[in-house]
Amino acid sequence: MKIVKYFMAAALVTTVSAGMVAEAADKAKKDPMQIVRGAKSWAQTCSRCHNMRSPKELTDEEWEVSATHMRVRANIPGNVVRDIIVFLKASNNEKVKK
Ligand code: HEC
Repeated sequence: MKIVKYFMAAALVTTVSAGMVAEAADKAKKDPMQIVRGAKSWAQTCSRCHNMRSPKELTDEEWEVSATHMRVRANIPGNVVRDIIVFLKASNNEKVKK
């Protein structure tokens, strides 16, 4: 039975790490430069009216809402906001518990 246990543990570890890699790849999407563009636009655009908010302040879902709100409020072009959202989501590490 010991062998079965080890096998199951190994299977579990493999599944978890594969999941994490998939998530990271998903965040970078097909265009890794989007994060770079987003970081630049974030620094240039999001400090115009108020202090820069740290990407870690909000969860992925909250950034969707907030950045979309800012897009409307500040009249920021859609592609720029999409880049910024990708950067913010990739930079908040994990979901922030609030
Ligand atoms: C035109 C000025 C302006 C720009 C540019 C701007 N903001 Fe804001 N932001 C505001 C104002 C004003 C508020 C206060 C809430 C309101 O009145 O809409 C705010 C509020 C916020 C909040 C608080 C939560 C919320 O959604 O109200 C966050 C987070 C935020 N901004 C992030 C950003 C990010 C990220 C960017 C860049 C994409 C950005 N802001 C660009 C004016 C701006």
